[in-house]
Amino acid sequence: MLTSAAQGVYLVAAVLFVLSLAGLSRQETARRGNLLGMVGMALALIATVVLSVDVSERSPLTTLLLIALVLIIGIAVGTWRARSVEMTQMPEMIAMLHSFVGAAAVLVGFNSYLTETHADGVHLVEVFLGVLIGAVTFTGSIVAYLKLSAKMKSAPLTLPGRNWLNLGALVASAGALGWFLASPSLVPLVLMTVVALALGWHLVAAIGGGDMPVVVSMLNSYSGWAAAAAGFMLSNDLLIVTGALVGSSGAILSYIMCRAMNRSFVSVILGGFGAEGGTVVSAGAADGVQGTHTEIEAAEVAELLKSASSVVITPGYGMAVAKAQYPVADLVARLRAAGVEVRFGVHPVAGRLPGHMNVLLAEAKVPYDIVLEMDEINDDLAATDVVLVIGANDTVNPAALEDPGSPIAGMPVLEVWKAKQVVVFKRSMATGYAGVQNPLFFRENTAMLFGDAKDQVERIVAAL
Ligand code: TAP
Repeated sequence: MLTSAAQGVYLVAAVLFVLSLAGLSRQETARRGNLLGMVGMALALIATVVLSVDVSERSPLTTLLLIALVLIIGIAVGTWRARSVEMTQMPEMIAMLHSFVGAAAVLVGFNSYLTETHADGVHLVEVFLGVLIGAVTFTGSIVAYLKLSAKMKSAPLTLPGRNWLNLGALVASAGALGWFLASPSLVPLVLMTVVALALGWHLVAAIGGGDMPVVVSMLNSYSGWAAAAAGFMLSNDLLIVTGALVGSSGAILSYIMCRAMNRSFVSVILGGFGAEGGTVVSAGAADGVQGTHTEIEAAEVAELLKSASSVVITPGYGMAVAKAQYPVADLVARLRAAGVEVRFGVHPVAGRLPGHMNVLLAEAKVPYDIVLEMDEINDDLAATDVVLVIGANDTVNPAALEDPGSPIAGMPVLEVWKAKQVVVFKRSMATGYAGVQNPLFFRENTAMLFGDAKDQVERIVAAL
């Protein structure tokens, strides 16, 4: 009776998780999405506790005490970390959390194998795959955490024949599966676990710091599949559904990020790219980009803005570094009060995290309805008086469309150069993340406003 009631609650929780994901896809509904997810998770936890008390051979009190103990430890550590983490440390925190899911899948797999006395072939395959995916996720996430927190060098590890090593690990695992099915014992399972742990480590070590955000999202997907595998082993429907949701949404996000950066998913996985992911100070001539740039002062930009009737702001990684979103929000409020139409154009991979700019702008209380995506704003740029490029570089580079030989050729960009006047806020002529020079800086209708983005926006606000 209790078990079927818990199954009913699981169904409700699963629907709430789907609604939560749907809510999280838009800023206006993100809070509601979060809330639905929290309610779903609370229901799932209660149902799981009820279920475990119902099926356990221990006394209900002992089961409850054991569950309370781990809940208290988990809640204490989770609350402490969530409160202390900085926005910029978010990717490494997520990577660390994925490693826990991987470790859990490995432990559940071993436990399930050791306690199941009449295991059939299907169950053995579930155990094997759960441990395999879990082990790859575990060490892969640990390497991602170490690289993102700069505790390990972010340059890709390029062992000779690294793709063959990975392939060899997969073939060895397939062999171990055959052995495990033919004569089930701990030996092939442990051997495969060791190989999978090494494979996870090597897969992510071979990927450069630059591609780490895609890798974190990929590990997110793996952790979902590991959870789904654990769900099969435990015959827990909700864990299967939740794992599949996480697995597929992580895969979709990885795909979107790769497409927006014009990188193929396979080339990211095979690694060896994105050496340091840092800024390269290059002379324009070296890249075939030549010309002179024009400089402008904050007071002159204020004059430009006063006489403009439409303004578009395209923020990038530099806005995040300078924490310029607050004065930018102030500037926008003033211009709007003066009757100027102001909108934001956000590139899907501006910054270093999916949704990075949207989060910063929401934090500074910029109204959602003036924050548009690249595809929504690109057609309007030709009719725009002034575009302020605040700390963005690769995402506004015309070479992506005009120079087939450019490393970023084919990447869709914000076509800011079509506007009447462009002002680029940055500190120098240095390149952005992709390390390629930007011909936009040398265009006739572009003026460079050098300096820290926050200081310069504050100066413009003061001049207004
Ligand atoms: P970037 O091309 O990285 O350029 C950022 C610019 O900001 C730099 O040229 C830098 O120039 C400037 N800057 C840095 N600190 C500044 C400060 N304090 N004040 C003013 N300017 C400052 O930025 P983007 O246009 O946002 O492009 C993002 C890049 O990251 C893309 O190549 C994308 O593929 C990559 N990427 C994105 C993601 C996601 S998911 N968003 C993930 C991985 C990689 P100065 O040094 O001269 O100031």
